[in-house]
Amino acid sequence: MNIDPNQIKLKTMKKRTITAGILLSLTILTGSVMAQKQAPLYKNAKAPITQRVESLMKQMTLDEKIMQLTQGNAGQNDNQNNQGEKIKGVDPLIGSLIYTGTDVEYRNRIQKEALEDTRLGIPVLFGYDVIHGFRTVYPIPLAQACSWNPALATQSCNIAARESYLTGINWTFAPMIDVARDPRWGRVAEGYGEDPYTNAIFCRAAVKGFQGENISNPYSIASCLKHFVGYGLSEGGRDYHYSDVSPQSLWETYLPPYEAGVKAGAATVMSAFNDISGVPASANHYTLTEILKQRWGFKGFVVSDWFSIQQLIAQGAAKDEKEAGYKAFYSGVDMDMGDNIFPEHLKKLVEEKKVPMSRIDDAVSRILTLKFKLGLFEHPYAEMMPESQRYLKEEDKTTVKQMAEESMVLLKNAIQTLPVSNTVKNIAVIGPMAKDQGNLLGSWSGHGRAEDVLSFYNGIEHEFNGQATLQYAQGCDFEGNDQSGFNQATEVATNSDLIVLCLGERREWSGENASRSSIALPTVQQLLLESLKKTGKPIVVVLSNGRPLDLSKIEPLADAIIEAWQPGIQGGAALAGILSGRVNPSGRLAITFPYCTGQIPIYYNMRQSARPTQGLYQDVPTDPLYPFGYGLSYTTYHYGPVRFSSTKIKKNQKLIAEVEVTNTGSKIGKETVLWYISQPVCTITRPIKELKYFEKKEIQPGKTVTYRFEINPMRDLSYIDSNGHKFLEENEYFLLVNGQKLKFEITK
Ligand code: BGC
Repeated sequence: MNIDPNQIKLKTMKKRTITAGILLSLTILTGSVMAQKQAPLYKNAKAPITQRVESLMKQMTLDEKIMQLTQGNAGQNDNQNNQGEKIKGVDPLIGSLIYTGTDVEYRNRIQKEALEDTRLGIPVLFGYDVIHGFRTVYPIPLAQACSWNPALATQSCNIAARESYLTGINWTFAPMIDVARDPRWGRVAEGYGEDPYTNAIFCRAAVKGFQGENISNPYSIASCLKHFVGYGLSEGGRDYHYSDVSPQSLWETYLPPYEAGVKAGAATVMSAFNDISGVPASANHYTLTEILKQRWGFKGFVVSDWFSIQQLIAQGAAKDEKEAGYKAFYSGVDMDMGDNIFPEHLKKLVEEKKVPMSRIDDAVSRILTLKFKLGLFEHPYAEMMPESQRYLKEEDKTTVKQMAEESMVLLKNAIQTLPVSNTVKNIAVIGPMAKDQGNLLGSWSGHGRAEDVLSFYNGIEHEFNGQATLQYAQGCDFEGNDQSGFNQATEVATNSDLIVLCLGERREWSGENASRSSIALPTVQQLLLESLKKTGKPIVVVLSNGRPLDLSKIEPLADAIIEAWQPGIQGGAALAGILSGRVNPSGRLAITFPYCTGQIPIYYNMRQSARPTQGLYQDVPTDPLYPFGYGLSYTTYHYGPVRFSSTKIKKNQKLIAEVEVTNTGSKIGKETVLWYISQPVCTITRPIKELKYFEKKEIQPGKTVTYRFEINPMRDLSYIDSNGHKFLEENEYFLLVNGQKLKFEITK
């Protein structure tokens, strides 16, 4: 047999390579076994999180632990109420930072120091107020609630989560679920309106959107339920003020959205600024520990609101910072947002045996657990990529456009002014909001930019291209006395077939620290409308604002009114679609529009008056201008009779209610059925009616769709008392749907 010497060489080489390979693998294996032996358990991604937390905490000093309970600020804080200094040097041991920038490289540099320049290498948790969009800004939460489309809210929050994640933000201070019934309070914009159930549903939707199916998945960020609790009751609508929250309303109205959020798995909760009937929310052991952590079993952590610990001194609950820190921490606040009080005083408080180590460990383990869940130990850095790949994706713009379309509410449409008929050839687009971009973003608009926003004017121009010509006049500013633009506006209006008058609020008129004594628009805007009315042309008033408005002077002069809210970057396209009829409006109010400021507070789920026909206002109407749930459409719906599976049930039985709704008009529409319950007589008096379920469905013209509400008595009919206990009575109840009121009973 001839042997090829090259073959021998090859075989020998292979043999050598294999031997070397085996040796190498053995070395790697031994090395890795050794490394595994040496690597602390908390660095092992495969170990259970509880063990990782425990292993890490065993190695931490008290100082290191306290630093985990501390949140600082990086980047210039652009929230005008919380102007923070631009951070010069960040302590790499810090537990969390509010990161107000978009510079990923800078963010990663801070993270690198935390990982590499500290003994244990614990990553920083970066948080930011991503309230209704990071860069792809969508409608304010109050507007989202008016869409009655929580699935769309989930999708929108999901977009915000992805853009945040790609910038290195792993935690948002949202959703805000403070039931708010005083529109003078600027923060009504940030929540989901006046109803606890609606807040609960949208809270769940937002948590799901931010945190995804699993908070450990890429693009998921932690959510934060805020502001716990009763902040919406700030007296007189003045922000940061005292709030008198009765135990009954605490349990019945203000807590339910939080309970829903905790059940939905929200990772964190923020303690509020307000003083809850004598015990400030950030030093309230009853709400933070007894209710949230003990009764509800909340496993996440509580962060204070910005300086809310220090503010305990101003509120008269603590004599100095040390006492404030003690009270907040003892009550259940786990992380100090910005006050620097925990790092200053907690150690001393432990040494003095005022704060037990077990409480420190409890707080630290809550925070570390979230860091492990978020995968920060394995993926501490944000990927560097161009902005164009991070923000403003086309499909995301489509989603937020739909959210804007569905959240706008058609409040008035006399003699079918809308949709704009094709006989309209000249449209006068007038008003301070017409060409405005920045104000459409609303407050808390993350890193949204005015130049990303499609203005109402530009949206209309694009929509009516080839069908009608546009003329523009600003008319006046948002406020002030300058009426010099009225003449030009009147001239433009005179030459038109239809006036679209765009009025509203500047973005800084709502949001935090933006209380107003009157919810009417400044007089100059009303005067502009009055002067345009003289032209005799039909007027569509378009409103962009962050709160319900007093429209008592506007409504009589307008032929149609669209509440467009602060709709975000696609506001112009959404509005134009509604004007042209391409989009059939389907929004309904999630908050009452009082007739005037003097009616406040006014909300649909009030309790019955002792004399329902008396006690009326002598000078103004007693009913609101537009009630909760109000909103018009371009089509008409006919509701069939509500059918019950039975009119008598026992406590443990379910009751099915169904109603058939027919689209009797000629346009496709989306109809939301709101199901209310009332219990006229009860051990404790109950609200006149309470929303218990809603559903929105699309209905083709001429078609009928069935809506179904499965009544679960304990969930939907019970009342809660002032200690948080639920009771269900054998009694008479009513189901209310779109003007129908049907009696049923719970029997023995
Ligand atoms: C607000 C919070 C916000 C925090 C951080 C506070 O002033 O009340 O809602 O999350 O600042 O910016």
